Amino acid sequence: MREGKPEVLVTRKLPPAVEARLAQDYAPRFNPEDKLYSRDELLSRAAGVDAILPCHTERFGADVIEALPASVRIIANFSVGYDHVDVAAARDKGITVTNTPDVLSDATAEIAMLLMLGAARRASEGERLVRAAEWRDWSPAFMVGIQMTGKRLGIIGMGRVGQVLAKRARGFEMTVHYHNRRPLAAEAAADAIFHDSVEDLLPHCDFLSLHCPATEETRHLLNAARIALLPDDAVVVNTARGAIVDDDALIAALRSGKLAAAGLDVFNNEPDIHPGYRDLSNAFLLPHIGSATRETRDAMGFRALDNLDAFFTGREPDDRVA
Ligand code: DGY
Repeated sequence: MREGKPEVLVTRKLPPAVEARLAQDYAPRFNPEDKLYSRDELLSRAAGVDAILPCHTERFGADVIEALPASVRIIANFSVGYDHVDVAAARDKGITVTNTPDVLSDATAEIAMLLMLGAARRASEGERLVRAAEWRDWSPAFMVGIQMTGKRLGIIGMGRVGQVLAKRARGFEMTVHYHNRRPLAAEAAADAIFHDSVEDLLPHCDFLSLHCPATEETRHLLNAARIALLPDDAVVVNTARGAIVDDDALIAALRSGKLAAAGLDVFNNEPDIHPGYRDLSNAFLLPHIGSATRETRDAMGFRALDNLDAFFTGREPDDRVA
């Protein structure tokens, strides 16, 4: 390694405490304007750095990895998802890649609960009425939604976030069903019911929450054929990645009334989402804020820094994914 503190390109504005630790231990190149860098800007700013600390907003496809300066030895992501990085290309170029698991599970499960409740109880429709001064009356037929208490919740991807969501859902007396690559150990599963295929799980889901990573295998996992297997009037929520959902199929099911509602925090092609969602009154839409709490954003930054610290002191980073 070169003399002096390692140079780190920090692609987005990070919480003050995280930037303070970076400034103390590294030679950071900050982005105080929080500007989203283009591919070319990212590459030019990376000239000569030892590390990059990016978010999921920067894409590191094989072409970008290939074009990175040879000085870059680690990409320490400020995110648990790393589908924005071609890990095989990074591995081939000898670049270490890390992520930030665990620390955002509570915050993301909170947003999944908010989406389930918001979608089922028509929260954004109601809020818009009140704000627009269009709330005229109360009647037994007004703004009737779907009750969540006591219903069946299906979880696809029973990792850290899925398991926290299952715990929270039990507070609403929901019965938890799940599909995962492998069944959980008995203690972690508690009373959750394992299904060995997505197809087997879906008919048991009054509510369905997606928590699997975005990979080639899970791309458009929720498609028209699978939506057809859900009970009528089911509610679908997604806090994982937009790529898991076939937007055309989901929008068609929300329009036809096959599904009662959807709650979405993540989308294909963010922030230019499929326009079909925008005028659907039964879609409750949030702008990818699953991990957006003060506590979690600090914890994500510190976790990314722990990975950098390990790497630059010759230890194995805890969260190495490549
Ligand atoms: C994550 O950490 O993957 C969140 O989606 C924010 O990037």
